[in-house]
Amino acid sequence: MVSTLPTGVQASGKQYLPSTNSPNQELLPLTAKINQSDHLEIGKCDVTTLVEQFGSPLYILDETTLRTACRQYHDGLKRYWPGESLVLFASKAWSCLAVCAVAASEGLGIDVVSGGELYTALHAGVSPEKIYLHGNNKSTTELNEAIACGCTIVVDNWHELHNLAEIGSPVRIMLRLTPGIECHTHEYIRTGHLDSKFGFDPNQIEEVFTFITKQSCLECVGLHAHIGSQIFERQPHQDLAQVMVQWLHKAAESGLPVRELNIGGGLGIRYTESDDPPSIDEWVGAVCNAVLSAVKAANLPLPKLLCEPGRSLVGSACVTAYTVGSAKTVPGIRNYVAVDGGMSDNPRPITYQSVYRAVLANQMSAPATETVTIAGKHCESGDILLKNAQLPKTKPGDILVVMATGAYNYSMASNYNRLPRPAAVLVANGEANLILQRETYIDLIRHDRLPERLTGKRSPE
Ligand code: LLP
Repeated sequence: MVSTLPTGVQASGKQYLPSTNSPNQELLPLTAKINQSDHLEIGKCDVTTLVEQFGSPLYILDETTLRTACRQYHDGLKRYWPGESLVLFASKAWSCLAVCAVAASEGLGIDVVSGGELYTALHAGVSPEKIYLHGNNKSTTELNEAIACGCTIVVDNWHELHNLAEIGSPVRIMLRLTPGIECHTHEYIRTGHLDSKFGFDPNQIEEVFTFITKQSCLECVGLHAHIGSQIFERQPHQDLAQVMVQWLHKAAESGLPVRELNIGGGLGIRYTESDDPPSIDEWVGAVCNAVLSAVKAANLPLPKLLCEPGRSLVGSACVTAYTVGSAKTVPGIRNYVAVDGGMSDNPRPITYQSVYRAVLANQMSAPATETVTIAGKHCESGDILLKNAQLPKTKPGDILVVMATGAYNYSMASNYNRLPRPAAVLVANGEANLILQRETYIDLIRHDRLPERLTGKRSPE
């Protein structure tokens, strides 16, 4: 008997919330099942077999879930927005060739924030017309790379605007403005003036427009704003729509009619049962309706509408599989179970106190009898992946799977303590393809240089 996890089966004694098929509302990828061996299966691949084949820790990315999320954004915009539209994958969430290529094959463009992300998107075969370069301190080299490939530059500040005017090459730009809506996770505030390192002050909008109209090399196609990440409320984005349409109006008044409006990303995902984000479809519908009514009220032509989600595209599509190793009981206080990765492959718990859920992939139906703290293997007391995880009794060699690790895990991974970064596989229909090779010790010292005088070959003068 094969059962599907996210539709409410018992796993490790926990009841999963019902499936809604919006990937961001799922704890596990859409294809997750328990197979006949009582193992977790993703994309018809047994997770324990994947670990045998590709090693541990291992990022396992489900192609179906990633494609479904891309389609839900793409189709949602087609359904709710009567004009032109484009979804951009915010590749900071997971920049690598395969993820960019999947997103692009679903018709998405790519948001990049550095020369390195731009290089990755271009090498994944993404068309430059669909690439937008962000960043609050782009170097002249990065600006020139963007100009050379023909992507759009999202200009963040006066320094950059002056740099581009000085470079003088024809370039398509958008302007990033600070909307005065601050949104961190579940709460938001609206302020007249926002303390943010990103974007132009909207009070200077007329001045910026006047400057641009005098630069024949700058073609300003649109306006951009992004209010935050892991957001569950719809209201902040609806407010943002109002604010941005006022800017559109000012642009038209300044004789600089822009045609694109990029509302940013930010839709949250479910990391634990208590997280309750709206579905992708609900979010897209709410954003489109808010922009549409504001545009109509202002009697403006329909802009091309863009959004740039990262987390909600790739976050729920991936799990990280670890191998359980040592354990330690501190009587009356805590049971530690250590795994073979930690803050280097998932820095989110130590950085943001992020909470995750985990299961044992090799005994999915065993009841949860233990409360354990899952520790990483780094020389750092704070290297804890999960506190108070409810799990069946663990033993060395068990495969622990941490859910929803697709966003800001690999992309923020490090080599702390000289741990090689894990491999990643893309799974679909029983096939698993390596998309990121596991780093080796050779990779770790690849860029090290040993001056001769330290090797004893040449003595110091
Ligand atoms: N657009 C811009 C301009 C952004 O700055 C971001 C995220 C996004 C789009 C995508 O936002 P998303 O849809 O992923 O929420 N490292 C943090 C998240 C940082 C987000 C930075 N900007 C984390 O691990 O939670």
